[in-house]
Amino acid sequence: MTETFKSKWLALREPVDIVSRSPALADAFLDCLPANPRILDLGAGTGSNARYLQTRAAARGMTIDWLLVDGDVTLLDRVVGLPRFDRQVADFAADPGVIDVSGVDGVAASALFDLVSEGWFAKFVAHIAGRPLLAALTADGGHRWDPEDPVDTYIDVQFAADMSRDKGFGPAMGLVAATGMASVLDAAGYAVQGADTPWLLGCANAALVAAMIGGIADAANRHGERADVTGWRHRRNAGLTAENLHLTVGHRDLLAIRG
Ligand SMILES: C[S@@+](CC[C@H](N)C(=O)[O-])C[C@H]1O[C@@H](n2cnc3c(N)ncnc32)[C@H](O)[C@@H]1O
Repeated sequence: MTETFKSKWLALREPVDIVSRSPALADAFLDCLPANPRILDLGAGTGSNARYLQTRAAARGMTIDWLLVDGDVTLLDRVVGLPRFDRQVADFAADPGVIDVSGVDGVAASALFDLVSEGWFAKFVAHIAGRPLLAALTADGGHRWDPEDPVDTYIDVQFAADMSRDKGFGPAMGLVAATGMASVLDAAGYAVQGADTPWLLGCANAALVAAMIGGIADAANRHGERADVTGWRHRRNAGLTAENLHLTVGHRDLLAIRG
């Protein structure tokens, strides 16, 4: 796998993901499944997406039989909080056809599809053959910082370029993924609903914001350390320490259902 994620990063984002994502689209997804469905969670990581849906399903008296698919077994080994699940350890970048959809009633994923190319996504949509799809927390925009900094625009451009870097699936859809996904799904006969699900971060999320500052600066410096990016990193960390920093990170949830 070209792109790997640390369990610490997934743990930092999980509580913010929970409060950011659309409960209405999650419930509409569960509503169109059988009473006790088998749901595939693609790119499951440590199980954050499945845990969120499991909680909402349990409140409705549903029992879910999960299939968690990921290429990183060290993340799948950390899954907790799901009464019933199987795992498929597979790198699905070269061919979405390796994903085991047998017996699956619905497909869910979170924080995944901005990594993939539109061509890969079209093959994936063909592979899931009309099953409902809930795609949560696809990155869909730059970052809005408060207060602003003169280097923000340069950082945004570099970050957007890094988001569209090939992560093994072909040129990634990156920050325009939600639009690309909606057009592929529409062409495949799905009705698509969407909701903006931004992270609204402040000093209460200091560890996540610090990780974002580091990750964004590293992305902007991917082709060599630049003094203005180093200065930006220091000013942003100083703002966080002084409890004078807010960050909005754009995301979008999509629910696709084929009639
Ligand atoms: C940003 S993480 C999201 C994890 C989880 N869905 C969540 O919301 O916490 C992306 C996940 O996709 C998996 N992934 C990335 N590329 C992959 C590939 N080529 N094959 C299989 N899994 C992959 C990673 O291992 C990681 O668990």
